[in-house]
Amino acid sequence: MNTSSPRAATPAFDSVHFRQALSQFATGVTVITTRLADGTFRGLTASSFNSVSLDPPLVLWSLKSQASSMPVFSGNSHYVINILAADQAHLAKLFSTRTEDPFSQVEFELSRTGHPVLKGCAASFECHNRSRYPEGDHVIFVGEVEHCEFSPREPLVFHAGRLGGLHVPG
Ligand SMILES: Cc1cc2nc3c(=O)[nH]c(=O)nc-3n(C[C@H](O)[C@H](O)[C@H](O)COP(=O)(O)O)c2cc1C
Repeated sequence: MNTSSPRAATPAFDSVHFRQALSQFATGVTVITTRLADGTFRGLTASSFNSVSLDPPLVLWSLKSQASSMPVFSGNSHYVINILAADQAHLAKLFSTRTEDPFSQVEFELSRTGHPVLKGCAASFECHNRSRYPEGDHVIFVGEVEHCEFSPREPLVFHAGRLGGLHVPG
């Protein structure tokens, strides 16, 4: 068997099939927020969050290259990753659709660096925008965590295209 292939084989599946297969992997849901130089706020829903390193404390998430918020998140020095609780599915929807001023509809306070921390979340990570890696049609963002808070709550879960709670049998 040839184990040294320089390139991946051309996929025999389409993107719909790929997305459906990926959607079997249950994730939590985050809203990633930041503040622009003019004082306005920006945020988007992302389920691509994951941990990277304990020392230094690093996390990652990915943003599609064509996202309108790409210039904001690429250029800003800091952002906050808000981990949504089970009763915050409305926030996942709010921040994944074009809305004039979503921050007028949510409760938040400001982080130490002046970025929005959404109230009622299970956890928040205030990150320095450490590095970015373009891959395919997304950019992987690696954040260095400068501050984090948590308040154990049932998390919001994204699975097979649906948002819900854990529904762990008792
Ligand atoms: C549950 C859920 C998870 C999502 N995860 C991501 C993600 O990890 N990365 C991403 O680029 N978009 C993700 N999206 C889509 C963005 O939230 C959506 O495209 C958003 O409107 C992008 O905003 P923008 O184009 O204004 O930047 C997700 C949407 C939902 C509902």
